[in-house]
This record gives sequence, structure tokens and C-alpha cells, in this order.
Amino acid sequence: MIRLEGVTKTYGEGPNRVEALRGVDLHIAPAEFVSIMGPSGSGKSTLLNLVSALDRPTGGKITIEGQDISTLTDDALTLFRRRRIGLIFQFFNLLPTLDALHNVLLPVMLEREARGEDVERARGLLEQVGLGKRTHHRIHQLSGGEMQRVALARALVLGPKLLLADEPTGNLDSHTGEAMLALLKGVRDQHGTTIVMVTHDRNAALVADRQVRVKDGTIVEDGAAARLAAGA
Ligand SMILES: Nc1ncnc2c1ncn2[C@@H]1O[C@H](COP(=O)(O)OP(=O)(O)O)[C@@H](O)[C@H]1O
Ligand SMILES: [Mg+2]
Repeated sequence: MIRLEGVTKTYGEGPNRVEALRGVDLHIAPAEFVSIMGPSGSGKSTLLNLVSALDRPTGGKITIEGQDISTLTDDALTLFRRRRIGLIFQFFNLLPTLDALHNVLLPVMLEREARGEDVERARGLLEQVGLGKRTHHRIHQLSGGEMQRVALARALVLGPKLLLADEPTGNLDSHTGEAMLALLKGVRDQHGTTIVMVTHDRNAALVADRQVRVKDGTIVEDGAAARLAAGA
């Protein structure tokens, strides 16, 4: 599903040069739920931004669903990301002027005019995340947990096989965060969606099948979450 080979990322030049990733090799199988952990500044978001095709590596190769994304033009990369990858962010990144339903429909509307069946699908997704009664609420009328659930519904509207989340519980209280994690796990279990989640939250990491630990731009630990928890 995802393969990184010798991936490096350098920002800036001269005294401002930062080697955010120093050679990352990682293979993630279809339907795997992987958490990426590590201290602040270790390169987690950089890694996720490269896999989500929001940015390009300085060196190395990234293949997603068999596609070497370094060979794509900027326009092709934008389409690839929109159509094939669902994204969720710590600060939700929703459009405040639209209601919940239209936020969910946004990826569709960037492609073409939304049809009746798209609206039905968006409503269905909002229902699945427990927001069936909030479809016409504006974003500012929702709680943080509700906003993140709208973001999840939006990420799923085009039926991606890959879902990427950067600190999806970072702005939620523990109860709301747990509900969000259960939804993510449900998406994987029901649809076989591959999920890669960056998190600081130990509980979040333990929901995943596999925990990858990043430090100073390299992977320092990679194993099944349960095995790590057992201290083995
Ligand atoms: N756009 C950027 N320009 C310059 N440096 C950056 C940029 N993005 C991240 N960095 C630097 O790269 C390193 C890794 O950052 P990041 O991937 O955001 O870490 P994390 O998500 O693990 O906290 C940090 O030292 C950060 O300051
Ligand atoms: Mg980060």
C-alpha cells in the first residue's frame, strides 16, 4: 500500500538547514492501522505530509498503491491526493462558512457539481459518525469532537483506501478522543482502509496494530503496539 525507500527531507539552506528526515524506510500493508509516535520536532508531520503528497521528498522514493508519486506533476499530485487519500488534521481544517453537510461534500464539489447521490452519501457518513442531526449546523456551532467527526466524514466521502491523520485527538478531551479512535478503528475494520496516524497520545497509539517511533528524523522502533505495551 505504502512504501518509503531511503526518504530524506531537508528544509532551508546554510545555517537554516534542517534535516527533518534522514533516510526513512517503511512499508505499510493494506488495511494496517499504524501509529507514528515521537517527540516534538522529530519529523512526524514531515513524514505524513510526504505520504499525503502535500510535499515532496528531497531524496528517496515513495510509492502509494503502486504509484511512484515522485513522477507526478504538481497538478497530478493534487488530484491523486484529493481522490485517493483522506486527510484529518489536529485543527480540523473545516470551512467555517459552510454547514457540516457542505464541508463533507467539499472534495466532491472540487471535482464536479454534487449530485443527489453525493448528498445522500454525505448524509449517510454524517449519520455514521453520529451527526445525523447536525447536517445543517455551521462549523462554529459544533463542539471540537463534532468538528473532528465532520472532518472524518469529509475524509471518507470519495471512498479513499488510505486515511492519514495528524494528531486527530490532539485537541479533544480524552472521552471525545476515545470516541474518535473507535470511529477510526471502525472504518478500518468495515472498509479495510489503511490508516496512518501521528499521535502524542499513548492511548491513541495503542488502538493501532503497529507503532512506529520516530526520533531525529529516523525510525528508531517499529513493532506491533500490543507487543510494545507488554514491554517485550
Ligand atoms: N516548512 C518548514 N521549514 C523549515 N523547517 C521545518 C518546516 N517544517 C518542519 N520543519 C522542521 O523540521 C523538523 C521536523 O518537524 P515536524 O515534522 O513538524 O516534527 P513533528 O511533527 O514530529 O513535531 C523540526 O525541526 C521543524 O522545525
Ligand atoms: Mg507535527
